[in-house]
Amino acid sequence: MKLDVLLGLQWGDEGKGKVVDVLTPEYDIIARFQGGPNAGHTLEFDGIKHVLHTIPSGIFHPNKLNIIGNGVVIDPIIFKREIDALLKMGIDVKKTLLVSRKAHLILPTHRFLDAASEALKGKAKIGSTLKGIGPAYMDKTGRNGLRVGDIERQDFEDAYNQLVEKHKALLSYYNYAYDLKEQQEKWLEGIDSIKSLTLIDSEYEINNHLAGKKRILAEGAQGSLLDIDFGSYPFVTSSNTITAGACTGLGVAPNKIGDVFGIFKAYCTRVGSGPFPTELENETGEALRKAGNEFGSTTGRPRRCGWLDLPALRYAIMLNGVTKLIMMKGDVLSILPTLQVCTHYMFMGKKISSVPFNVVNEPITPVYKELKGWNVPLDNIKSLEKFPEELNNYISFIEEELQLPIVIVSVGPDRSQTLIRKEIMSYEL
Ligand code: IMP
Repeated sequence: MKLDVLLGLQWGDEGKGKVVDVLTPEYDIIARFQGGPNAGHTLEFDGIKHVLHTIPSGIFHPNKLNIIGNGVVIDPIIFKREIDALLKMGIDVKKTLLVSRKAHLILPTHRFLDAASEALKGKAKIGSTLKGIGPAYMDKTGRNGLRVGDIERQDFEDAYNQLVEKHKALLSYYNYAYDLKEQQEKWLEGIDSIKSLTLIDSEYEINNHLAGKKRILAEGAQGSLLDIDFGSYPFVTSSNTITAGACTGLGVAPNKIGDVFGIFKAYCTRVGSGPFPTELENETGEALRKAGNEFGSTTGRPRRCGWLDLPALRYAIMLNGVTKLIMMKGDVLSILPTLQVCTHYMFMGKKISSVPFNVVNEPITPVYKELKGWNVPLDNIKSLEKFPEELNNYISFIEEELQLPIVIVSVGPDRSQTLIRKEIMSYEL
């Protein structure tokens, strides 16, 4: 059996949490493979909204396993909060949530270092969520990190103190003031909470399940355009957010990857700094932000809004090997009578359809195609036959341009506002 991957094709916040929740009945296991509590995966059902940061979005379905893979970085404080909230709701996380021993831990001092580094950057700041993601991955690649499995070691406290001492030296270089005591207490409580969960060697667990014909969906976080290698560096996150990240973040070989579901919004958003060629810094952008409630689910920051960007989507599709597309938030575009879609860029005097290297320093001018908007609400539409003609045209135009099927169209945040257009699952594997 192969493992399917679901990930964002833009700058994150595409609606991955909602779609994973909708697709979970088709799978036995949902596995997160990278990122950490910088993510905020929002799910809505039965009139209640849930935001998950570390825990896979399959957790609300009984009898499904949820795995946090080795590629994830975990902040025990935030993780404990998530676990406690789920336990309160009667969800048996102790039975349905498994954590890789090889996942790395975010220390309170990683968060301080994140803040100190951003403060020093001044105007050139990344716009990080300040959850300690960058410093935690730096310690991972610098071979200093602490992993979940280390909490089972006798000398864990020593290893923790040693790393904290190192961080303290760095923080004094930054001249950054912090108060560790309270955070450390909470962190240690978080470690106790992790101890109460089932820790696993997730690479074996996952490959054994695949061999046993279990269906697994790997859930990405952030988006392809925030990938550490292929995003608009340095305005990126610190992990590989693309399909390759599912291989390294779960221990799954490339030839075990099946379908790759690429999720995109019908327009674009970006939170934090960095290039955004189709950004609308005007009342249309403001209207999209309002209609789409475009405020970060982790930080509450307003998201920058803009038109759909096809060169960026083509790039993400190429990097990920996307087989099926999922379009989110079509309902938000209902507010506009005409729509623009970026088909190409003008870059250094040339019309191009690729994403160039120097996106950060050279200006990019989008070339747009105008399409008629549907201008009617979609959120109550329950069948494809009710789709307005202009929406069908918008969808067909994107399918034609990207040469991939859009299998799901989402018209609202609730589970029920999800329309299946084409066969989602490939069962032949
Ligand atoms: P960091 O990963 O928190 O350091 O943030 C790096 C950049 O990625 C910033 O621009 C963040 O706003 C952005 N980012 C990180 N996680 C997410 C996410 O889950 N959704 C959207 N943007 C994110």
